[in-house]
Amino acid sequence: MHVAIIMDGNGRWARRRGLPRSVGHVEGAKAVRATVEAAARASIDTLTLYAFSSANWFRPVAEVDGLMFLFRRYLFSETQRCIEQSIRLNVIGRRDRLGESLLHAIEQSERLTAQGTRMHLRIAVDYSAQQSIIDAASRAGGRDLTPQQFHALLHEVNHSNPTATEVDLLVRTGGERRLSDFLLWECAYAELHFTDCLWPDFDAHQLNSALDDFSKRERRYGAIAESEAEAGADQGRANVLTLASLPHSTPTHQEPST
Ligand code: FPP
Repeated sequence: MHVAIIMDGNGRWARRRGLPRSVGHVEGAKAVRATVEAAARASIDTLTLYAFSSANWFRPVAEVDGLMFLFRRYLFSETQRCIEQSIRLNVIGRRDRLGESLLHAIEQSERLTAQGTRMHLRIAVDYSAQQSIIDAASRAGGRDLTPQQFHALLHEVNHSNPTATEVDLLVRTGGERRLSDFLLWECAYAELHFTDCLWPDFDAHQLNSALDDFSKRERRYGAIAESEAEAGADQGRANVLTLASLPHSTPTHQEPST
């Protein structure tokens, strides 16, 4: 199962306590650590966290610098923990605008955790789904591609290694209900879970309630419920289209993994 999280609300968490935004980000980094551990315990295969969007470069320089510092520090402090817990860490997004020391930390963490098999942790930094789609399309160079081939190109442009499956559950904290240019292709059939919880307050309990919510969803991928299809067939009046029966169909989804 692939869970992706838009971590929102660090600034408001700090403001409500009369603290600078930077403190919200520091507390947010602690919530990242707790959530990664909880996700591994919940047997999630892939966890993708939206840490810094390409639009976030427009924030004040001091805030951007503070976030880059936190990413570096996180990579230094968590790499050993990831190795011990068999978590493979991978930073996705553009790399050409990141500082040298962060790039070095990313490469080192990815190399040292490459054998991890328990969970694939992806942290999105300088990430824009729209830009990724544009870059993958230009890499395709006008060739006819299947969705799976395009998906693979997207992973190439984002440095996603190994290739991740599509997102099953997208969580957004902080009360907003939008996608903010995150994994637009990969979320084609994702279930969405929005919570008012501000990111620094997110923990194992919050993750488990999102997973609980997900477990109650019926995923149909555009088809109809199995029970309805059976009832229709019994009465000899069903005209049930399944993706597989469509001419030249190339379903882009995987089977639900839960
Ligand atoms: C959005 O909240 C959050 C971010 C832009 C940064 C996310 C960073 C972290 C969670 C901490 C560090 C991450 C890692 C991986 C170590 P916001 O600042 O926009 O909050 P607001 O909407 O309340 O202002």
